[in-house]
Amino acid sequence: MPALKQASDANSDKPMGAQRAAIINMSSVLGSIAQNDQGGFYPYRCSKAALNAATKSMSLDLKKDQILVACMHPGWVKTDMGGKNAPLDVETSVEGIFNTILSLGEADTGKFLQYDGTELPW
Ligand SMILES: NC(=O)c1ccc[n+]([C@@H]2O[C@H](COP(=O)([O-])OP(=O)(O)OC[C@H]3O[C@@H](n4cnc5c(N)ncnc54)[C@H](OP(=O)(O)O)[C@@H]3O)[C@@H](O)[C@H]2O)c1
Repeated sequence: MPALKQASDANSDKPMGAQRAAIINMSSVLGSIAQNDQGGFYPYRCSKAALNAATKSMSLDLKKDQILVACMHPGWVKTDMGGKNAPLDVETSVEGIFNTILSLGEADTGKFLQYDGTELPW
């Protein structure tokens, strides 16, 4: 928090966003209660739903410090966890994540977003 507040103060001429100070939590669509139509994955779903709830609270608590907080779903990605059947390669996912993060502003704090910028339901 001290480092984030320092960054936000040092960049006070910039609008809220990654250029100023931001926390981006790596979530998963499996944490979405609205999009759960398959069941299962109890520990994983619960941990990501908890992360999403924490993201929302942090976004409200840190707004006064002009620190943007959001959570993101990277897509289903070919990593050790995602496995080889995943449709997205790491480069596509990471490029999308970075472009999305760079596009975020005050109106986006507290959002749950996919790697391509699409907003996801809680
Ligand atoms: N891949 C997907 O399709 C997908 C989809 C939705 C969300 N996500 C989320 O994206 C994030 C990254 O996933 P990934 O696919 O890149 O997974 P991954 O390939 O399994 O990599 C996980 C990374 O986390 C590190 N790690 C695991 N436990 C740790 C611990 N206790 N302390 C510190 N580091 C630890 C691992 O380090 P070591 O290599 O040293 O073990 C590894 O670098 C996760 O939060 C995951 O839930 C992934």
